[in-house]
Amino acid sequence: MYVYTLLSIFALLLAVECGSLWNMFTDILDNIGKYEDAHLNINQLIFKYGYDFEEHQVVTEDSYVINFHRIPNENGPVVFLMHGIADSADCWILQGPSISLGYLLADEGFDVWMGNARGNKYCTKHAFYNHTSEEFWKFTWEEIGLYDLPAMIDYILNVTGRESLYYIGHSQGTTISYVLLSMKPEYNQKINLMISLAPVAWMGNVKSPIVQTFSSTANELSSVLDYSILSSGTDLFHKVSPYLCTWLMVKCENILFTLMGHEHRINDTLWPIIFGHVPTGSSTLQLVHYGQLVNSNRFCRFDYGVENIDRYGQATPSDYNISMIEVPVVLYYSDKDLLSDVQDVMKLKSKLTNVLDNIFLSDFGHLDYLYAADAYDLVYNRIIGQIRKFEKDVNST
Ligand SMILES: *[C@@H]1O[C@H](CO)[C@@H](O)[C@H](O)[C@H]1NC(C)=O
Ligand SMILES: *[C@@H]1O[C@H](CO)[C@@H](O)[C@H](O)[C@H]1NC(C)=O
Ligand SMILES: *[C@@H]1O[C@H](CO)[C@@H](O)[C@H](O)[C@H]1NC(C)=O
Ligand SMILES: *[C@@H]1O[C@H](CO)[C@@H](O)[C@H](O)[C@H]1NC(C)=O
Repeated sequence: MYVYTLLSIFALLLAVECGSLWNMFTDILDNIGKYEDAHLNINQLIFKYGYDFEEHQVVTEDSYVINFHRIPNENGPVVFLMHGIADSADCWILQGPSISLGYLLADEGFDVWMGNARGNKYCTKHAFYNHTSEEFWKFTWEEIGLYDLPAMIDYILNVTGRESLYYIGHSQGTTISYVLLSMKPEYNQKINLMISLAPVAWMGNVKSPIVQTFSSTANELSSVLDYSILSSGTDLFHKVSPYLCTWLMVKCENILFTLMGHEHRINDTLWPIIFGHVPTGSSTLQLVHYGQLVNSNRFCRFDYGVENIDRYGQATPSDYNISMIEVPVVLYYSDKDLLSDVQDVMKLKSKLTNVLDNIFLSDFGHLDYLYAADAYDLVYNRIIGQIRKFEKDVNST
């Protein structure tokens, strides 16, 4: 999240300070090629590990160009994965084969589609706006749920000739699925089963100190921050961060942990690779919208203040109507997740009408769903089992 902004600034300052030293080390490290995966993009990574790869493109109703990715398997059930804020499809494969969810699902014979949200590195084009313009960045995650998701889902169903798919979301990837199904309920028919990893809807109990601090000033901050704060400076950040984090493991971790929590199960050797791929672009309004949820303890549309009347025809933004969600949902949540609090998840659960299962994981951090060394044992094999069971039940009726 916006901690990446801090990280970017931190990395940039250090990069400048250590300029010459830095050149020397990059030469050495580049030659060793030790962190090759930190610098490869998703197609290079997937080819490297011997999987088929396709890139697809779709244009949303409001003219954003979305590039997204597939590890194809025409015969398998379609699984659609959606990443969190400031992230991209990369998150599903960074741990490499036999560990990452993207590859594991492919190994299981599923047709794996990995979506991207507007503003991230794969989605910087718009039919009319340059991504360096402010107009481009005037969206929150509501638009991602309302426009990007249906564009990708319709495209996938069209290409595969299927009527419905399995949806797996992480963090913001869960928020946008709730937005979609409550605002465009016809999409209930297009999703078989929804797996929510680290669900984020109500946020009144979020424990992360940075998030709490940010939230109390969210609206004020939004007026002083650049709309695209998370997109600027990330190129340099990606070049330097794998090395910086190796040298300064403690500092990188401290900043990240303040946000995500100190408990985690991520192999230290993976951090340089993770930081080679995150953050990627997000709009400031996405963060502000989350900040508003923390403050209001509601799960509702963006509060535009005096503009609400013009936009919504009412003075206060309305709640997302969670009871419109008919799709069976599986919730994965943990007591060590500072962004997806157990109490908040319980509130979400109480409002959902079709919770198939809710799985509590103890000592599981927000990013562990993507990068924990033991994510397979604790989460992925269960996900695979849940989809297989659903397939079997549907085929036998
Ligand atoms: C977008 O704007 C930047 C600088 O403002 C410019 O260099 C670039 O050519 C523009 N791109 C397009 C596609 O117009
Ligand atoms: C479905 O795919 C066909 C063939 O590629 C295309 O002509 C058509 O416009 C697509 N329909 C939708 C709704 O995307
Ligand atoms: C961490 O990753 C390294 C390099 O991939 C590997 O050799 C090591 O076994 C991993 N450690 C754990 C605990 O998985
Ligand atoms: C929410 O959806 C339910 C079920 O469709 C409906 O009965 C209820 O009136 C809706 N609530 C609001 C506030 O729109």
